[in-house]
Amino acid sequence: MRIAVAGGTGLVGRQTVKALRRSGHDAVVIARSVGMDLTTGDGLADALMGVDAVIDVINTPTVDPAEAREFFATTTRQLLAAEHSASVKHHVVLSIVAVDQVEGNGHYAGKRAQERAALDGPVPATIVRATQFFDFAAMVVGWTQRGQVATVPPLLVQPVAVADVAEVLVQVAAGGPQEGIRELAGPELQDLVDMARRTLAAQRTSLQLIPSWRGPFGVEMAGEVLLPGPGAQIAPTTFETWLAAQAVDGGQEPVGMAVDSDGDSTPLPTLREPAGDAVTTGVDVDANGLRLRSDGAGCRLAVQEEGSGRPLAPTGIYSVATEPGANLRYGKKG
Ligand SMILES: NC(=O)c1ccc[n+]([C@@H]2O[C@H](COP(=O)([O-])OP(=O)(O)OC[C@H]3O[C@@H](n4cnc5c(N)ncnc54)[C@H](OP(=O)(O)O)[C@@H]3O)[C@@H](O)[C@H]2O)c1
Repeated sequence: MRIAVAGGTGLVGRQTVKALRRSGHDAVVIARSVGMDLTTGDGLADALMGVDAVIDVINTPTVDPAEAREFFATTTRQLLAAEHSASVKHHVVLSIVAVDQVEGNGHYAGKRAQERAALDGPVPATIVRATQFFDFAAMVVGWTQRGQVATVPPLLVQPVAVADVAEVLVQVAAGGPQEGIRELAGPELQDLVDMARRTLAAQRTSLQLIPSWRGPFGVEMAGEVLLPGPGAQIAPTTFETWLAAQAVDGGQEPVGMAVDSDGDSTPLPTLREPAGDAVTTGVDVDANGLRLRSDGAGCRLAVQEEGSGRPLAPTGIYSVATEPGANLRYGKKG
């Protein structure tokens, strides 16, 4: 089948594109960086020609509820209108377990608007609500870190591997529309603060973690509210297995990268595995700091503060809090 992935360059999107290709499907990537903007619809008509199904895994960094609602409702409507014109038969949305039970989180407000727009749209839709990703604890640390301290809400979660989410999205998209909502979770309950500590330890990063309900993850997320229902699909990968792949060890000489006072950065080169496989990397700089990407295919990015040698994060997509003008070094880890 020909299946398009909206957000196909993101954390989930890249793994979904890989899972599609592994399963023998033809994958089409939709993202601004490849010339298609879902807020305007630019480039969509051509991209969707001959496409059977679309998997929507786009995202926005905003935590403002009105902005998040506007982003997800607009992008979903643009996508569905183009899908309808192109006779796409199935629209799959990745959402979040308990998105309808947490009122105070801006991202969740946006995801509810996305779900509604999809279910009310002209193309048969299936919503896959996943629990928090294994990467989520490190993401929260990245968002809240100030100096050597980060705050993490002591959420009770049943997290899941992004790779497992990607596999399920492919199976769902390739199957017929289910016209409704299904849930996906990992195999074990975890405490988010404990996940953050174990992730930092695997990355050999030393930070003080303070449990806190202040911020975007407030007390309405306490207790069992984020846990999946009894009918949820349970994915196989354990947090321990995922952690083992995060360990920082060995590596090549880092190369320098400067972030200048305008927030611009020198472009990251394409890193190459010894075997010659290209590993595409990218960087986004915004008010929250620096965000590096690696496609994770047998490669880890290791980021260090210049001078201290302190590793900041080892792999995948993550945020590094930094001041404009700070010097960071990054390099490929084996
Ligand atoms: N984190 C969790 O624990 C968790 C749990 C369950 C569900 N989810 C859901 O998973 C989804 C994907 O998250 P993620 O971490 O993979 O996101 P991500 O890494 O931030 O990727 C976002 C993707 O969206 C694309 N995008 C953004 N704006 C766009 C636009 N206007 N037009 C076209 N493409 C656009 C980006 O590409 P460009 O920048 O090139 O446009 C990128 O490919 C989110 O919707 C989130 O709610 C997350």
